[in-house]
Amino acid sequence: MTTELRPETIEWENLGFSYIKTDYRFISYYKEGAWDEGTLTEDNQLHISEGSTALHYGQQCFEGLKAYRTADGSIQLFRPFENAKRMKRSCERLLMPVYPEDKFVEAIKKVVEANEDWVPPYGTGSSLYIRPFIIGTGDNIGVKPADEYIFSAFVMPVGPYFKGGLKPTNFLVTDYDRAAPKGTGAAKVGGNYAGSLLPGKEAKERSFSDAVYLDPETHTKIEEVGAANFFGITKDDLFITPKSSSILPSITKYSLLWLAENRLNLKVSEGDVYVDQLDQFKEAGACGTAAVIAPIGGLQIKDDFHVFYSETEVGPVTKRLYNELVGIQTGDVEAPEGWIEKVK
Ligand SMILES: Cc1ncc(COP(=O)(O)O)c(C=O)c1O
Repeated sequence: MTTELRPETIEWENLGFSYIKTDYRFISYYKEGAWDEGTLTEDNQLHISEGSTALHYGQQCFEGLKAYRTADGSIQLFRPFENAKRMKRSCERLLMPVYPEDKFVEAIKKVVEANEDWVPPYGTGSSLYIRPFIIGTGDNIGVKPADEYIFSAFVMPVGPYFKGGLKPTNFLVTDYDRAAPKGTGAAKVGGNYAGSLLPGKEAKERSFSDAVYLDPETHTKIEEVGAANFFGITKDDLFITPKSSSILPSITKYSLLWLAENRLNLKVSEGDVYVDQLDQFKEAGACGTAAVIAPIGGLQIKDDFHVFYSETEVGPVTKRLYNELVGIQTGDVEAPEGWIEKVK
């Protein structure tokens, strides 16, 4: 459902994670082997052929990143070149033309600046979510890559993705898989998400925040927490996050790995997180652009319910990681070199 809101009337502190039509989006067309210059448009509707490969064969990919308002009123992006690189890898996996990395960041800056009034004020806990995507278009019917594509990026102000924000919520380990061992799990492509709708619905119907997926090969190790990566803090202060070729390489996760090691002086590792060995963890959370850091209170695994730190309180290490990450994103904490791109 479209929500018709204007920046003047938004209650920035009370935003959830829903579509809001903002004023401008960036759009570029790929035809005869080349991307055009691209332009900003006020039209939020796409007019595409019924034969578009994105509609039938899922030939599409997307990204998600955010723009943040800082205390001095400026606007900045968090690691946008990492999103550009991941989109490149998604395109390569689905045989789509790459949108050049520098042009990607330029387009993001343009669309954010054009929608400047929609960037939530500093201190509200909200930010501007940016959704770039590429779809295969044109007149096609056979299962093969399209000749024509659209790259576009639209934006909207958002609040927390999981309704608790920094309050812990509970998750349900599902029997369904979101990705196959050598499938497309590591690419940010729509097919992975279509398959996650049913397990996500089942989890929410049982009052959990989302489904947790195990590794598709053995169903013994944690892979993903809905549309976010998992991390845990062991009782001897190791920050650990799953390593697998079928999870999405989260930019937030790699940022936390670096911050845990270099700012919190924790040991860090990417490795196996066995679902029957959760007692080793004193804290756990989900991390991602949308989720930011969402503490996991408890995890339902068949008939067992495992509580990490607490069902109601955020653990101290998770809180420190959150403060460091969000501090960098909003300009309050010094960022490692190259992590921040100023829009204006
Ligand atoms: C399946 C999945 N895992 C993890 C993430 C987190 O990735 P990032 O930190 O790059 O946003 C996302 C969101 O992009 C996601 O959709």
